[in-house]
Amino acid sequence: MKKIVIFASGSGSNAQAILDYFKDSAKIKVSLILTNNPQAGVLDRARKSGVAAMSFNKFAFAKANSIHQILKSIDPDLIVLAGFLWKFPEHLVIDFPNKIINIHPALLPKYGGKGMYGIHVHRAVVENKENESGITIHYVNENYDEGAIIHQAVCRLDSTDGPEDVARKVLELEHEHFPKTIEGLLS
Ligand code: GAR
Repeated sequence: MKKIVIFASGSGSNAQAILDYFKDSAKIKVSLILTNNPQAGVLDRARKSGVAAMSFNKFAFAKANSIHQILKSIDPDLIVLAGFLWKFPEHLVIDFPNKIINIHPALLPKYGGKGMYGIHVHRAVVENKENESGITIHYVNENYDEGAIIHQAVCRLDSTDGPEDVARKVLELEHEHFPKTIEGLLS
């Protein structure tokens, strides 16, 4: 059985899509969900799905502390950042080479980098009158949104679309493509 660990910071709709997709899989399972936000909706989703979950603080994320130890003991095949908004620490990037992936709600290299997350991305896309946006699934390296791209998908935008409309179109793409891309990487 291949093991996934998910990191998420908010509602966790992507985590939910992954949980649903692999619910009956004999090959891939979500072993643990981790969040930096004790109020995150993703904790409730984990509980309802019967998957172990915990929140952690900055101290636990530091080298040789609990998150590091937990990941080492689980030895996941893939670490999935699904709406995780903290920078992933370099010691983990080094210790889990080519095993950490992120989903970004835009077509990188456009609209990436520090401060570019969630609705901020979609506002910038609308301000620049883009006629398309989309998703990027990529490996995580030590720089924000710069790791090798694994998969992208595009959605068309209408001139009347506001940031919330773009968010809805992008999220739909994320839910469709993220679990399948994970499956592909683990097959
Ligand atoms: C998703 O759109 C994801 O791409 C984005 O946060 C949202 C989380 O939604 N991630 C980033 O912006 C990371 N830079 P969710 O909690 O419903 O899955």
